[in-house]
Amino acid sequence: MENSGHQLRCTGCGGVSGQRELQADFRCPHCSDLYEVVYPSWSDGTAAAGARKPNASALRWLWKERRSSREDADQSGVWRFRELLQVLQDEKNIVSLREGNTPLYHLPRAARATGILGLYAKHQGMNPTGSFKDTGMTAALSVAHELGYEWVACASTGNTSAAMAAYAARAGMRSLVLIPEGKIAWGKLSQAMDYGALTIQLKTDFDGCVRVLTEVVRRAPVYLLNSVNPYRLEGQKTPALEIAEAMDWDVPDHVIVPGGNLANSSALGKAFEEMRYLGLTLKMPRISVIQAQGANPLYRAMQKNAGQTLEPVQADTRASAIRIGNPASWKKAVRVIQKSGGWCEQVDEAEIALAKAEIGAEGIGCEPASAVTLAGLKKLVLQGKVRPEERVVLLLTGHTLKDSDYTIAYHRGDLLKPEEFGSLRDEIEVTRRNAVELEASVDSVLRELEKARR
Ligand code: F0G
Repeated sequence: MENSGHQLRCTGCGGVSGQRELQADFRCPHCSDLYEVVYPSWSDGTAAAGARKPNASALRWLWKERRSSREDADQSGVWRFRELLQVLQDEKNIVSLREGNTPLYHLPRAARATGILGLYAKHQGMNPTGSFKDTGMTAALSVAHELGYEWVACASTGNTSAAMAAYAARAGMRSLVLIPEGKIAWGKLSQAMDYGALTIQLKTDFDGCVRVLTEVVRRAPVYLLNSVNPYRLEGQKTPALEIAEAMDWDVPDHVIVPGGNLANSSALGKAFEEMRYLGLTLKMPRISVIQAQGANPLYRAMQKNAGQTLEPVQADTRASAIRIGNPASWKKAVRVIQKSGGWCEQVDEAEIALAKAEIGAEGIGCEPASAVTLAGLKKLVLQGKVRPEERVVLLLTGHTLKDSDYTIAYHRGDLLKPEEFGSLRDEIEVTRRNAVELEASVDSVLRELEKARR
């Protein structure tokens, strides 16, 4: 056991590894599966662990109390819950940008439209670099910092690169970013550059970038910060804690997340399981994963063989963050979907675009990849898998400003090809709000206002 109180256990063969013995690609040397962080003193479910379980009401009180503290670690919505992520030997090594503590919004219009009155959005796009990746990055980059690495690296569809570059800059470390050429949103590329990363666009897709980077980290002293790194998932647990806390520790019935590389669903599942084990909450919500139809390897695997094997696909969707054909953490996602009684659905380009506009119309907005959650919920409701009395939380993973080109094209009416509209043309038309160009005269503005009021 490490001094920090955690162990690394292979999710395939159960083999345990020390932190410094992990392979550079975070794969188990025996079965090639991925590791997860466990805490022998309380997360194992053994009699001894049970005896040393922290007291649930003391934890709830402590975590709330920390919100009014002036300490950096307490002000972070990740490290505020540090009793459940004991991954560092020394808290001095925390690298934080005050991530987390994101809003849980009610979505009144979408609630009326879907008939799910208790419909909420946990907006992880309200993190410092604009996505949910910050919560995982503060955890894993702090570990890299503690281990004494100078360089960190990731392959990314955009958000991970921005988060990693920011946290590395904060810690005075160097970062290497590999991104697919021409296939990420410009805003994200600009962030990585601004935060000082060595940013390399490779002439391949995300899956190709992962292949190259896996070899690079084997040959160079660079710490890998993709979500195969189990410490990322410890940070990404914390939105689940915040959701439970915001609902007075009475967890929702259903949490819906977008699926790309498929790590986030399992991080949230792990948190809900740990909370229940510790007596912080009484039940586990269903966790459902929604993929874009053009990047749907998990959906296919679940349909074909209940997720026993997964065949990679050539990914193609405008939701660039989840344009991933060979997801690293698919087995973890299958486990959490099955254990929690959730589902995996797919949604097409028109469904994603309309859902994104609807989330925008709530005064909230999100990036295209996040909008698959609302599009997926609509399908689950039609299939009778979500009932009107259930409380549902959509995890909005990224900020609406990430992909303004997408949003502008939607409102101008040039995003979708005619054959992509399906049955949604009319619904899409009423949500479009194109900008109007006029002569600089009062009368022309008043005429436009009159038209809009009708
Ligand atoms: N939503 C957004 C906004 C994302 O950026 C990602 C992943 C996902 C959802 C999917 O999460 O991979 O845990 O299933 N983005 C990656 C990146 C992979 O490089 O930023 P996942």
